[in-house]
Formats: sequence, structure tokens, C-alpha cells
Amino acid sequence: MSAPDYVTHAGLKKWVNKMAELCTPDQVVWCDGSDEEYDRLCQELVDAGTFIKLNEEKRPGSFLARSDPSDVARVEDRTFICSRAEDEAGPTNNWADPDEMMETLQGLFTGSMRGRTMYVIPFSMGPIGSNISQTGVEITDSAYVVVNMKIMTRMGRAAVEALGSDGYFVPCMHTVGAPLEPGDTDVAWPCNPDVKYIVHFPETREIWSYGSGYGGNALLGKKCLALRIASNMARDEGWLAEHMLIMGVTDPKGEKTFVAGAFPSACGKTNFAMMVPPKAFRDEGWKVTTVGDDIAWIKPGDDGKLYAINPESGYFGVAPGTSFKTNPSAMESIRKNSIFTNVALTDDGDVWWEGMDGDPPAHAIDWQGKDWTPDSETNASHPNARFTAPASQNPALDPAWDDPKGVPISAFIFGGRRSGTIPLVVQSFNWAYGVFMAATVGSETTAAAFGQQGVVRRDPFAMLPFAGYHMGSYINHWLSFGRNIHNPPRIFEVNWFRRDEDGGFVWPGFGENMRILEWIVGRAKGRAVGVESPLGWMPRYEDINWKGLEDFTEEDFYACMAVDRPEWDSELLQVEELFMKLHNELPSEMIAIRALTKGALWRSPKHWEMNPDPT
Ligand code: GTP
Ligand code: SPV
Ligand code: MN
Repeated sequence: MSAPDYVTHAGLKKWVNKMAELCTPDQVVWCDGSDEEYDRLCQELVDAGTFIKLNEEKRPGSFLARSDPSDVARVEDRTFICSRAEDEAGPTNNWADPDEMMETLQGLFTGSMRGRTMYVIPFSMGPIGSNISQTGVEITDSAYVVVNMKIMTRMGRAAVEALGSDGYFVPCMHTVGAPLEPGDTDVAWPCNPDVKYIVHFPETREIWSYGSGYGGNALLGKKCLALRIASNMARDEGWLAEHMLIMGVTDPKGEKTFVAGAFPSACGKTNFAMMVPPKAFRDEGWKVTTVGDDIAWIKPGDDGKLYAINPESGYFGVAPGTSFKTNPSAMESIRKNSIFTNVALTDDGDVWWEGMDGDPPAHAIDWQGKDWTPDSETNASHPNARFTAPASQNPALDPAWDDPKGVPISAFIFGGRRSGTIPLVVQSFNWAYGVFMAATVGSETTAAAFGQQGVVRRDPFAMLPFAGYHMGSYINHWLSFGRNIHNPPRIFEVNWFRRDEDGGFVWPGFGENMRILEWIVGRAKGRAVGVESPLGWMPRYEDINWKGLEDFTEEDFYACMAVDRPEWDSELLQVEELFMKLHNELPSEMIAIRALTKGALWRSPKHWEMNPDPT
């Protein structure tokens, strides 16, 4: 199919033709983003066996997909940053020579869409017309990708019309890498089990993805464009592209504060962004609203404030552990019109996963299509099973969530999954200390990425798998960015995941995180009280609102807040290791703050017995 009349961009049409010649699909389909198109493709996916239509009464307009067991998460070891110079990519990224890589890719993509349809998906990351937004065009041979992109981005005719005849777009090439020969029958989840490449060319701002159909490997607007390519744009142009949620916090007086928070993959961004405060807080008038749950693009405004948009329009959220108890707004968001990938199918045609409310079903079909009962030794859903749901279905959606201007950010929160060492909450002494906190975030690894589980890895800014250039320069960009802001957002570190000797979480988490958030917002507004600790400003027990959680004692709280010297000695050794790795681009401030922190740790560990700062 040739381009529809509303496509007036000669460069775009030329590129699409060239890619069609390379990949030799049976046909080319330009996606207009209409509901009819979405419904038609979902039906085609059902006919192809990729989608199972869920029970229309229980889960209207929704589908289940089961991926190939070899294709269940992002593949960090197959993700490449192909800058001209190897040092530009830095020691935390895989690098390959761009010319050699392009040659490899040309070979792989040649004829890669044989027997398939090539879809052209113009999309906007961010509200169409916002000065913070960017346009991309993804070419893919996966209808599953098209329907997910429809939920996750502003996709189709409107995006291509906004591009006009000469607008700038990021070209995003994707194939599942499974051409069909005449007579071949297709599988439910085509992918290439042996060869995968997720490749970024930062200088030419191109993305090429081969062999996977799953999540961030295939929905190229998300991690590839909105983080790896956008982080390069942001550095060059003086803004931030971050792995951050954005939320609005309304206090009982009706005053609203926006905060942005970075947590590594599967460490609680979606949960925090949709948080329902405890009843005692709701009764007082506290309200939390969601702007975004995964990515934030942040630009300084003319008034000197920082404005953030969520470039996405849907949630690609971790399913296991999501319940009415942990995240009621997510459960409401997925009531209808949602796509579920790698969760279990119940006998009544609904979905189920570990951690959902109520008893497990007596029988289900697991994510691999096999019979499952509660006695089975394996999980019914894959630990990185995901739902794709439109943001518009979130009952806590912030009214400004698609405001092209963005929302003004007053605080940045960083956190990882740490069973020890990191206290529940600390406010950095200043911007540079905050950058140090963010740069040294560690997290125990989860199922969102391949690799050993439960090992602490340094994940600076929760961007380790997503920074599109040298992590040392990334830290430097943050440092210098803050210097040019008159009144920068305050920076905090949190840890919802501290455990006791028995392995249980010491902090109840989820909605109860509101108590910590209230303190954070209070500090950002210059109201709440803090005491000086070796790491930064911290609340005392009496500085937190405990209404409705009276049985959480002072002792419990200080167990969450402890700064243990031996643990910190080991922590700072690991930080030194990271810094040595990044040394050729690391700002010297980081080394200095590490030394100052080491010195400060010789103070009494009971920092909460100090006098508070005068407010
Ligand atoms: P990506 O989409 O991969 O970037 O991840 P995310 O940061 O949005 O992760 P998500 O919110 O889906 O995190 C899910 C995991 O974090 C689940 O295992 C939750 O149970 C756990 N989690 C979230 N919030 C809390 C909390 O406050 N306390 C505890 N203990 N666990 C939490
Ligand atoms: C993450 O891994 O941080 C995600 C999921 O948000 S994916 O889009 O697959 O990268
Ligand atoms: Mn993410």
C-alpha cells in the first residue's frame, strides 16, 4: 500500500520505500491509529493465535498474549550503543563500531519480513504540539507491536500530520526476525530465539531492533527512543530524559506539588505513581494523581522552573504483585481494553497472576500454555508478565497529564531495592549531594532484566540500562544542569525494601509511602522538620504523620532509618568501584562527596537524637 494522502513528508516516504526494499514484506500498511484499525489488528492477532480474547463480561475488549519462552524481557546483553567513539558509550554500555554494526544489521534485515506485513507507525512521544515532545516512526512486522503502540503512544494520522512535510522524526526499525517462506505456518509468537540486537546510533539518532517482540525490545518509542536516544538529545540541548514517574500530591489545603521519582525496573514506579493514600490521609484531604509511571522528559521553563511531561500515553506495567491491596488504580486501569502478556488464563476466560487478590484459581493455564494448579511447582505467570493499559483508564489520572506545557517539578526522589544499608528516606544536603545519591543508587536485580537475581548492582539514576552515552558524562550533565537552575528541585533518596533478620520487609510500603511523601513535599516547600544525619536531612519519628498506623512504633521507624557504619563502609567501597569504572568522565565532585560522606559516618549513629534544623 502506498502512503495515504495525508502523508506529505517526502523524506519519510522515501525512507519507508527503502526499508520495504530491504525487508521485502508481502505488503506495507500505514497505520492511522484509528479504533477500527486497532480492532481489526486485534482480530487478526486472535486469528493468528497470538491473542486470546478474554471473557467479554469479565474483561471487556481485552486480550492475552503468551510470548516465546526465549523472549520474555529486555535483553541488556544484546543492547548496543554504537557511537563513533567507543569511549562515548562508556564502560556501562555495550559498544560496537557503527559501520560494522550497520553492515551486520543490513544483512539481518535483508528479506527479514518475507511473508509478513510491514506496518508503518508514526507516533508522538508526548502531547502532540508540545515543545517537549518528539516524533518517531516505527517500522515493524509485528501487529502485536502496533496495538501496543496504539495504547502506549499518540499514534497514527495525527502524529504524521503534525510532522508536516519536513518535520524531524526518529527512524525506528523493528523486525521479529522470523521471515516466512511460502507454505510455512506461522507460530503464535514469532521471534528469533537465537539472534537479537537492540541497536542505537546516537549521532544519527537511529534505532534498529532485531529478533524480539517483547516490551522495551520492540515498542521502540519507550526505552530506545524516550531514554537511550532522548538522553543524547537532552544532553546536547540542555534538558533531562529520565526513567522517572511523575505524580501530583495535593495537600488538605488544596495546594498541589509535583514530584518525579526514579526507581530501577520493577522497583515500584507504577505502584508509587498510582498510590492511594491511607484512609486517614484521604479523610484529611490528601490526594495523589498520576502524570506518568515510567518516563519523564524535563525542560527548564522561562520562569526558571523545571517542567516535566510523560512522553507515553499508557502503562506497560509489571502484573505479578498487582492487586487491589497494593495498587487499586492499576487494577481499575486494566478492567477493560487492555493487553496482558505472559499472565495466566483462568477457566472463565479471565487473567490471573501471583499476588492478585483472593485465593489462587483451582485451575488455570499458565503463561506457557500448560495446565496449572496451586500445587504446581512453577509460577502461573512469568515474573516479568506485563499489562498494557491506556492512561485514560486510570481513576487517579492527573488532569494535567497531557498538558503540553508539562507540570512543574518540586522534588526528585531516587530509590532502589535494598534489603539493608539505605534508610527509608534522606534528603540530600544540596544539588551536588543529591546527584551523588542518584549516581550511587544500588538495587537488587529483578526479573525485568536477564541476569542473576537479588544481587546489588549499581544503577545510577535508575538509568544503567537506558543511558545512551557515558554514565560519567551523564552524572556531569546532571551536575551542570542544576547549576543553571535558580531554585532547583530538592533531591531525596528512599528505600521501601529494607528487610529484618527474618527476611520480612520492615516498612509496610505501598499506600503507607504517603507518610514519607508528605514529609518530602513538606521539605520541598520548606516546611517540614529534619535533622542532620551523615547522609543528609532525615525526619525524626515525631516529624512523620502516623495517623492510622499507630502500631508502627518509634523503634520500628528507627530500624528503617538506621545508618549502619560497617554496612556503609562496604557501600562506599562499592561506590568507589563504580567511580573507578567511570573515572575518565566522572566529575571530581563525586569523589569529594564520597570522601566527605566517609568522614561524616564517624558521627553517632543515633543521628535522630540531634537537634532539628531551625525552621
Ligand atoms: P518498570 O515498569 O519495570 O520500570 O518498573 P516499575 O518501577 O514501574 O515497577 P512496579 O511499580 O511495577 O514494581 C513492581 C514491584 O515492586 C512489585 O514486586 C511490587 O510488589 C514491588 N513494590 C512496589 N512498591 C512497593 C513498596 O512500597 N514496598 C514493597 N515492599 N514492594 C513494593
Ligand atoms: C523496564 O524494564 O524498565 C520497563 C519495561 O519499563 S520495558 O518496557 O520492557 O523495558
Ligand atoms: Mn521502566
